[in-house]
Amino acid sequence: MSHAFMHRLGMRWARLGLLGSLVVALAGCERPPMDSQQLGYRGTGTVEINNPRLQQVTLAANQVPEALPPAPSDGPKASAVYQNVQVLGDLSAAEFTRLMAAITQWVSPEQGCSYCHAGGNFAADDLYTKLVARRMLQMTMHINSSWKSHVAETGVTCYTCHRGQPVPQYLWYEQPAPKQGGAMGWRNAQNTPAAAVGLTSLPYDPFKTYFLDKEPIRVQSVKALPSGDDRALRPVESLQHTESNYALMMHFAGSLGVNCTYCHNSQNFSSWSGSRPQRVTAWHGIQMLRDLNLSYFDPLKPTYPAADLGPLGDAPKANCATCHQGLYKPLAGVSMLKAHPELAAAAAAK
Ligand code: HEC
Ligand code: HEC
Ligand code: HEC
Ligand code: HEC
Repeated sequence: MSHAFMHRLGMRWARLGLLGSLVVALAGCERPPMDSQQLGYRGTGTVEINNPRLQQVTLAANQVPEALPPAPSDGPKASAVYQNVQVLGDLSAAEFTRLMAAITQWVSPEQGCSYCHAGGNFAADDLYTKLVARRMLQMTMHINSSWKSHVAETGVTCYTCHRGQPVPQYLWYEQPAPKQGGAMGWRNAQNTPAAAVGLTSLPYDPFKTYFLDKEPIRVQSVKALPSGDDRALRPVESLQHTESNYALMMHFAGSLGVNCTYCHNSQNFSSWSGSRPQRVTAWHGIQMLRDLNLSYFDPLKPTYPAADLGPLGDAPKANCATCHQGLYKPLAGVSMLKAHPELAAAAAAK
């Protein structure tokens, strides 16, 4: 065999080897072609790259159930007909019954009415599920009437989060710090790849920091020198704080099924004037979540059985994924509220 032939054979194997490792390396990637959409001014890097096949799967999983036929609003009020109606008293008895049927479809279709009502006594408050549901009714009305800056006229119903299940798929609890020491050394609340932060080694729990505590969401400082204890104006953000900020941003992108440039202009992440209006909507979403977790979810702790509480004994809480579930508008922007305007009543949402 000639030297040249041996050389060519060797090259061929080397190429095959390279191809083989490329196939292995790309197996974790998504198959092209991808869709690309220019969202902002050209040259600003506000481009959204999407995989149309994965989008089809997500859309199929986010269909809404058909609304029940409307009920007459005249006739006796629920407060006059029933014994223990504290939130929905202003509805007609017919509207009230329709809403009970709807929430059964949205929250406990398999368990039925008895998930919240024991032994045929509808007035009794003996099941924790009914007490939680009453507070959820008020919360839903509060979201739809006081947080239009985020949910607009589209609004939410129980289905936005529950999707036909008593326990929504996406919720969070406070997490105990990972064990320190051992081979991993001092982990500084990170290096424990968490699904919430896209399996990165970023801090595993951005939720308590930003959706319960009001830690400012900043990476860049706005002043050269420290100014008292004003944390929003710290001159140099700590590395840990910066990493938490990125962990939160990973949660945003993952929950909405978008890239960073859906909200930001990558030329300057801080600049509001360079960002898309969606970033402002997201900002209202952060304020809304803090309100919901502090005023509704967290205080339900004494109502839940111990088994429903988290590892540190706190109540289950909401984040962006609880409503969004992979889409930048939950349920692809379809408004289920339109068929249930009673769920936007401001007066009952205390
Ligand atoms: C997810 C929980 C939940 C489910 C499921 C549910 N309900 Fe209710 N129900 C409630 C809550 C909460 C109230 C109290 C509302 C209020 O205080 O305004 C209530 C109140 C009632 C009342 C008023 C009783 C009284 O005299 O005070 C009736 C009647 C009723 N429900 C019927 C039904 C029927 C029928 C179904 C099944 C089709 C059903 N409910 C399913 C949560 C639920
Ligand atoms: C913003 C999202 C959201 C909305 C809107 C919402 N819920 Fe919930 N709900 C949750 C979360 C999160 C939990 C905690 C689940 C758990 O128990 O671990 C919960 C718990 C519950 C539970 C207790 C389930 C159990 O077995 O522990 C009931 C009952 C319930 N919701 C009813 C309702 C009803 C009725 C509505 C509409 C009036 C509603 N929810 C609207 C997020 C939501
Ligand atoms: C859904 C919209 C949205 C998405 C997607 C998003 N962000 Fe953000 N980002 C925001 C908002 C809103 C703030 C400001 C929060 C505040 O000021 O309270 C912010 C703040 C930031 C900051 C801090 C800027 C400063 O002033 O110091 C950085 C850095 C950042 N985001 C990077 C990212 C990265 C990287 C990604 C992708 C992994 C991302 N963002 C995805 C909405 C978004
Ligand atoms: C209670 C449910 C709920 C929660 C929690 C929630 N959202 Fe939303 N969000 C909605 C609804 C509903 C809309 C659609 C409003 C509309 O039709 O304009 C929306 C719209 C948006 C939009 C605008 C999308 C667009 O293209 O116009 C952004 C961005 C967004 N949400 C980000 C977030 C972020 C980030 C979080 C967490 C901090 C969050 N949302 C939490 C319900 C929610």
